[in-house]
Amino acid sequence: MRSLTRVIPTIAASDGAGVKLRRSLGSQRGLYVDPFLMLDEFYSDDPSDYLAGFPSHPHRGFETVTYILDGHMRHEDHLGNRGDLAPGDVQWMTAARGIIHSEMPQQTRGRMRGFQLWINLPANEKMKPAHYRDIPARDIPVLELPAGGRAKVIAGTVLLGGRSASGPVNTSDAPLSTDPLYLDLQLSALAELTVPVQRAHNAFLYVYEGEARVGPAQHASTLPHRAAGVLTDGESIRIEAGARGAQLLLLAARPLNEPVVQYGPFVMNTRQQIEQAVEDYRSGRLTA
Ligand code: FE2
Repeated sequence: MRSLTRVIPTIAASDGAGVKLRRSLGSQRGLYVDPFLMLDEFYSDDPSDYLAGFPSHPHRGFETVTYILDGHMRHEDHLGNRGDLAPGDVQWMTAARGIIHSEMPQQTRGRMRGFQLWINLPANEKMKPAHYRDIPARDIPVLELPAGGRAKVIAGTVLLGGRSASGPVNTSDAPLSTDPLYLDLQLSALAELTVPVQRAHNAFLYVYEGEARVGPAQHASTLPHRAAGVLTDGESIRIEAGARGAQLLLLAARPLNEPVVQYGPFVMNTRQQIEQAVEDYRSGRLTA
């Protein structure tokens, strides 16, 4: 049974052209859970916090996973791909060698809420061609939980309450090297849930509504709202929702154990590779 080993609170950050967000992983240099590099939550009812969006910008060397809870996000990339993410939709983008894109919130009023997660790629996949997929909410399986609540399975395969489900990403037909499990859990008030995970994988939780306690029944510790809880090794994660219930993300994946050198939107293994990425972007060869 895993327990909390570290709580990473979020800090207020601003990115893109001034989008206000909360950042846990990635808020300081070296503060990541291999292979998860960054987790941002954007959440605002005030369009001035998000309308400027994320105009054209590059990525190289990793994957970005955008999950929208409220609002709309339009994206366009240098390949001419366009899409509009609606509530419940996910975009899983493998930037790899390079992508140049924009991510722009669409609405002029109302709530915008969602997450962007960065997942590292192994050294031998950092320069493969870019690839991405938009996953509509209807393609994300939902498991009803016996103790109350539900689990959405965005990536990987999980067994909960005697039922198994596989998300649209990291399937047995198309496994990813990091073998990620990405769940969005909604637990009813005081509900308990035990989630089996691969023993060798790193894992963390992020509570975005309510509060949860994590760990063995007699030794659970509290994971507050809007904080990432990094977990010890083990074969399962036990979660108890607080009196108002809890909504949280659960992430687990195989660590890469490779050097991480990051410069803004480029994540490589060496400083020389970063200099190459900057040079490639300047000269228009990032995505060539
Ligand atoms: Fe981006």
